Amino acid sequence: MLRRLHPDQPDSFAFTPANQAWAEAQITKYPEGRQASAIIPLLWRAQEQEGWLSRPAIEHVCDMLGMAHIRGLEVATFYFMFQLQPVGSVAHIQVCGTTSCMICGAEDLIAVCRDKIAKRPHQVSEDGKFSWEEVECLGACANAPMAQIGKDYYEDLTADSFAGLIDRLAAGEVPTPGPQNGRYASEPLGGLTSLKDHEAGRDSLNASARLASDTRDTIKRIDGTEVPLKANWGRQSGGDAMLAEPEVEEAEPERLTGPREGRGADDLKRITGVGPQLEGLLHELGFYHFDQIAAWTPAQVAWVDARLKFKGRIARDGWIEQARAMAAEA
Ligand code: FES
Repeated sequence: MLRRLHPDQPDSFAFTPANQAWAEAQITKYPEGRQASAIIPLLWRAQEQEGWLSRPAIEHVCDMLGMAHIRGLEVATFYFMFQLQPVGSVAHIQVCGTTSCMICGAEDLIAVCRDKIAKRPHQVSEDGKFSWEEVECLGACANAPMAQIGKDYYEDLTADSFAGLIDRLAAGEVPTPGPQNGRYASEPLGGLTSLKDHEAGRDSLNASARLASDTRDTIKRIDGTEVPLKANWGRQSGGDAMLAEPEVEEAEPERLTGPREGRGADDLKRITGVGPQLEGLLHELGFYHFDQIAAWTPAQVAWVDARLKFKGRIARDGWIEQARAMAAEA
C-alpha cells in the first residue's frame, strides 16, 4: 500500500501547551545527541491530539528534535499506525481482518463499515464523524471478530452489535469496551469450565474493560490535561485501591558532603542494581555509607527515587534490606 501525505494539509500545527510540555519532557529521557529517538512518541502524541498526522505536524516534531524533515517523513510513512489522512471527528475504526476474525465474521463487520461509514477505507463518512480501515491481527483473537475504536477494543462482535455501536457513538455515547456478547473475558463461550471459584464476587467488567470505562478516554483526543493512567491503575469497581501505588510525600534524607572522617566510602556497588554510574550519582546526592541507605524512610526513598529518575527501583531491588545487612556486617 502506497503511503503518501494527504493532498489537503493544514497551514500549521502546534501542540497544546500541556502536550508541548509532555513532549519536551519525553525528549529529556534520551542522552544528549540522541533526541531523535523521541520521534515516535512525539509523532504519536501529535496524532492523539489531532487524530491524524499532517505534514506541518511531522515537520514541527522534526524541528523540536533537530531532525531533517525527510527523516520524520520516513518514519511517519513507514509505520501503518500513523494516519496520514484526516480521520472521523468521533472515531477512526480499525477492524481486524486476520485469520480468527476473518473466520468469525470480519467480512460482515467490514460490510457494515462500507454501508454506514464510507465505501472505501480511510475515507471520512459524509457527516465527518467516522472513518475506518482493515488492520492486521490486534491480538484479541480469542474474542474474534473485533475492532479497535479509538484506543479500546470492542470484541465478540456481530454485524448487528457493531452497527449498534456505531449508532451509539454517533449519538455521543461511548459504549463500554470489551466483549459485546456477555462474555467476561476470553473464557469458553459456554461459560467457565475451571477456576470457577474466581467467578463469584468479581467485578462486572474485566480489568481492561474496567480501566477503559473508568478512564473514559476511548475516543477522546488527548490534549495533555488528562489524569495520568497510573492514578486509575488497578482500581476496582467501587473505588477500592487494590494495586494503586499510594503517592508518598517526599522528604529529604540527611546527606553528607563526603565520606565520614576516618573511613572511606562503603562500596555501594555491592547493592544489587547499583553500578558505578549509580554509585557516582548517590555520591553526588550525599550518600556514601550503607547505614545512610538503611535508614531511609518511605518519604526519603521517594525523594531519592525522584532524583535518580528510576522510580520504584529502590523498593524493587530491596536496597534498604541489602544496605541494612551490609551495615550490620561493618
Ligand atoms: S485475528 Fe483478529 S485479533 Fe487476532
